[in-house]
Amino acid sequence: MTTVVVTGGAGFIGSNLVRYLRRKHQDWRIFNIDKLTYAGNLDNLAGIEVGPEYNFIQGDVADGAMLARVWARRRVKYVFHLAAETHVDRSLNDAVPFVRSNVEGTAVLLDVARAEGVEKFIYMSTDEVYGAVPKGSDEVFTEDSPLKPRNPYSATKAAADLLCQVQYASREMPIVILRAANNYGPYQHPEKFLPLMLTNLMEGRQVPIYGTGQQLRDWLFVEDTCKALVTLAEHAEPGSIYNLAGSGIIPNIELARKVLGVLRMEEEDSLKMVEDRPGHDFSYPLSAEKIERELNIRSETKLDDGLRRTIFWYRSNEDWWRAIREGKFKDYYKKQYSEL
Ligand code: NAD
Ligand code: TYD
Repeated sequence: MTTVVVTGGAGFIGSNLVRYLRRKHQDWRIFNIDKLTYAGNLDNLAGIEVGPEYNFIQGDVADGAMLARVWARRRVKYVFHLAAETHVDRSLNDAVPFVRSNVEGTAVLLDVARAEGVEKFIYMSTDEVYGAVPKGSDEVFTEDSPLKPRNPYSATKAAADLLCQVQYASREMPIVILRAANNYGPYQHPEKFLPLMLTNLMEGRQVPIYGTGQQLRDWLFVEDTCKALVTLAEHAEPGSIYNLAGSGIIPNIELARKVLGVLRMEEEDSLKMVEDRPGHDFSYPLSAEKIERELNIRSETKLDDGLRRTIFWYRSNEDWWRAIREGKFKDYYKKQYSEL
């Protein structure tokens, strides 16, 4: 039996990955380790029954003793390491939890996985580790581009990315790194741009657009990421690093307009320009040539299709997002969006 560890499996991408694995690899045995921070949510896993093929462990990846217990008496084939603090805006206010989970957590997990054994360790990195290109630049990031992160979130992701790389360099630990663009899809926490936009609009509120809305992002449907993660586990060479782009970069304001188009809402009433994010990264244009050439992986979902599916999901799952918005999120929202 193939045993896999997913960290951060109660978050957005992690829960989509658990669902994907339960659909596509029903004989795999999953150990989902998640601390259940404000971003982790067992509602994301509703319908996935705990049993021989699926186990949930509430725990911190920086807790080596807990990790050693997970490894005890079983051979773990793949680790999908997704657990992290992930929100740039929060990291700009308090970097410490990011260092603890993203850097220390990754270091501890790497040590345990190396000591106890793993056939492939997949680290979910981000395009943000490259830093950003300024407006007007035609630079595109390849896997060999230097890492120049520009906010605490991406600095800790870059540190963890390097910790993974050095485990391969020094100990030939079978690490594979995926640097992915902005994911979107079902179960994304409403603090992130697209779900914030959808849930605000559904609550009759305006959508906050940072600065002028001209920053560019590349949107990648979460199911394409899940497929890529599994292909990497099964086929990528140890020590390899891959970029995964989405459907092409577009300005934030254009994404908002697309959403308003689907919802048939007027721009004037719906969008509100607010103070910009400090040091707001302009764009992370990725070359996805390597992953396509070597592993035949490409993100297949067109933005318009993925958006329609995502909007449909948020419309059909009001109970899920209202429960989040009515909880602690209220305080965060008030503080972050005092202009609204
Ligand atoms: P998320 O914030 O929705 O989920 C993160 C999960 O990790 C939560 O369930 C949280 O409880 C858990 N977690 C946090 N700290 C932990 C710890 N110390 N121990 C155990 N669990 C912990 O994040 P996401 O958007 O699903 O991102 C998943 C991964 O993908 C992250 O590593 C992120 O950096 C990376 N990534 C995300 C994107 C994106 O656009 N969302 C893009 C590229 C890379
Ligand atoms: P976000 O979802 O936070 O992802 P990231 O910063 O990791 O790319 O933000 C996506 C883009 O949307 C980013 O350019 C910032 C912008 N944004 C807004 O304009 N308003 C908002 O309220 C938020 C949360 C983000």
